[in-house]
Amino acid sequence: MTQASLIDGKAFSADLRGRIATHVARLKEEHGITPGLAVVLVGEDPASQVYVRSKGKQTVEAGMASFEHKLPADTSEETLLAKVRELNEDPAVHGILVQLPLPKHLDSDLVINSIDVAKDVDGFHISNVGLLATGQKSLVPCTPLGCIMMLKAELGDLSGKEAVVIGRSNIVGKPMAQLLLAESCTVTIAHSRTADLAGTVRRADIVVAAVGRPQMVPGEWIKPGATVIDVGINRVPKEDGEGHRLVGDVDFASAKEVAGAITPVPGGVGPMTIACLLSNTLTACCRANG
Ligand code: GUN
Repeated sequence: MTQASLIDGKAFSADLRGRIATHVARLKEEHGITPGLAVVLVGEDPASQVYVRSKGKQTVEAGMASFEHKLPADTSEETLLAKVRELNEDPAVHGILVQLPLPKHLDSDLVINSIDVAKDVDGFHISNVGLLATGQKSLVPCTPLGCIMMLKAELGDLSGKEAVVIGRSNIVGKPMAQLLLAESCTVTIAHSRTADLAGTVRRADIVVAAVGRPQMVPGEWIKPGATVIDVGINRVPKEDGEGHRLVGDVDFASAKEVAGAITPVPGGVGPMTIACLLSNTLTACCRANG
């Protein structure tokens, strides 16, 4: 049995960001427009701080304007909503992202739904969710958008394929299923209560694992030749007890012996997410300017 080919998310991401930068440069030169992305971070969650720094850096590298708004952990809902309103009205801001999770005293749904739908580059606003589900023009959540781009690049036409999404989150599982359905796949959403997860995954030509449980999908569940997209990023202690390493939701070592193609962790889906955020910001900017 030959080993699976690796789907190189780092290379995909670099290529996409390069194309975005070219488009941004042309927008500036020909129309004097600079796409702008505002990120709002409430509190000091260390993982969120890392993401936000990385987003800011890549936004600037793509030639876009980056606006970071850091608010203290005890910010009131009223103050946060006022900040979102200010960004909604700012013509230099084409995309708004409120970093999640928010501190517990803040209602994330309320805050997300207060973002201008046309600037909701996370695609989490209830209207963007509905637009995606009904096949209308929307902004699509970044992680599933990155996954579908890689799948189409790898496989070409996806129509008629059996796709199994493991995980039903609003951020990944549900929008991923919508995107696969829009590509005419036969889609199953599996989750923690699925009766026969192994049997369900074995049917799949395409497996998207997004549950956040380290290495829970073994190679023996994978149909030979299937394409495996691993969204999981789990920190686990190293075997020697010294520090941590990152693993996916799929057991990479056994899955790569069976799959046709597979995304590694790290270096698979992860790098595509910020690239897709920049892509959504460019899309929002182009739509705002006709
Ligand atoms: N926290 C972790 N990932 C994300 C994301 O994609 N968007 C937002 N808003 N918060 C996050």
